Amino acid sequence: MTELVTIDLGDRGYEVLIGQDAWAIARKLAAVAPNRRYAVMADSNVLRHHREFIASGLAELDIAGTPIEIPEGESAKSFGLLEIVLSQLLERGLERGDAILAIGGGVTGDLAGFAAAIYKRGIDFIQVPTTLLAMADSSVGGKTAINMPQGKNLVGAFHQPRLVVADFRFLETLPKRQLLAGYAEIIKAALIGDADFFDRLEFSNRDSLSALHLQAHLKSAIEFKARIVEADERESGQRALLNLGHTFGHALESESDGKLLHGEAVAAGIALAFDYSVRCGYCPAEDAARVRDYFSLVGLETQLALLLGAPYSAEAMVERMRHDKKNAGGKIRLILARGIGDAFIEGAADEADLLNFLKDKTQ
Ligand SMILES: NC(=O)c1ccc[n+]([C@@H]2O[C@H](COP(=O)([O-])OP(=O)(O)OC[C@H]3O[C@@H](n4cnc5c(N)ncnc54)[C@H](O)[C@@H]3O)[C@@H](O)[C@H]2O)c1
Repeated sequence: MTELVTIDLGDRGYEVLIGQDAWAIARKLAAVAPNRRYAVMADSNVLRHHREFIASGLAELDIAGTPIEIPEGESAKSFGLLEIVLSQLLERGLERGDAILAIGGGVTGDLAGFAAAIYKRGIDFIQVPTTLLAMADSSVGGKTAINMPQGKNLVGAFHQPRLVVADFRFLETLPKRQLLAGYAEIIKAALIGDADFFDRLEFSNRDSLSALHLQAHLKSAIEFKARIVEADERESGQRALLNLGHTFGHALESESDGKLLHGEAVAAGIALAFDYSVRCGYCPAEDAARVRDYFSLVGLETQLALLLGAPYSAEAMVERMRHDKKNAGGKIRLILARGIGDAFIEGAADEADLLNFLKDKTQ
């Protein structure tokens, strides 16, 4: 069964299709943009695993031409590859009314989305996310970006897709580790603002990632993100809540020297954010314990000493956090919680206290 979530952004609004029904996807695509040409950009691993599935879907949609292959990995989000992609779009004669179809994880989606945002001053694009992280998070909301030597996602644009097609068949080939990392972003949505959703996650217990539950959980996470993006499309306020766990998480991810996946770092970062909220007197200790227990139940490590890339240095983490791009006025900005489903923005964290907290946690 394919389900729908609507992102209500007026004339930039769109739908997210979630499920296994390729025919519905095909009909929907054709309905969104009749008589237009598409350039397909696809992740190299996804092409390798799903070449025939992709080819038959494209044939149904009457989309011709070979996909532009995007090499796997974060390094694809570069100026160099962006230029190559833009040149290929020009060589293929893509016009203002045509569109890009991006098939892949967050890397392909972010790169394709940014190319769509700037090609001929902006053309439409459709996201076909193939990782759980991309389905739950990066394909929805219109943030597109490439990386710079100075840091990740530093150059980009807000450019909403015209449609998002989250087809579960792609997940069949996704490594379990990547699946779990994406699941961290689903848990994040519940912890930020929907305590009932977290109850449902706990209730699904060890089966959380089974096909039976995953579709419902993904839909809840996308619905949650949709409401936040609708209220604050360009992150001038509440959208920053989506960064729960990310300030600690980015510090861990960078310090791990590539050993941690983004979602793994975010899971540990969320646990830290809850523990720090307890330390500051904002959050009951039972809630932080529930968070850790659930991460542990599904197989996401949150103990810093046991995390890949350990040992971590508290000083190095605070130094990374000091340079987080979400900071304002020279102060470290954290997303903390008053409890499960009740996150808030803490504009100016006490650096000395944060350092002591992390010293305890990294021992
Ligand atoms: N735009 C946003 O709002 C937003 C939000 C969160 C993350 N991001 C970005 O997303 C990126 C991370 O996304 P990701 O975790 O999807 O990483 P990714 O795109 O690198 O994909 C992870 C790995 O899985 C492979 N893969 C993808 N789909 C597969 C499939 N179906 N079967 C087998 N292998 C498959 C890829 O080749 C890659 O090796 C980062 O660049 C991050 O900055 C963006």
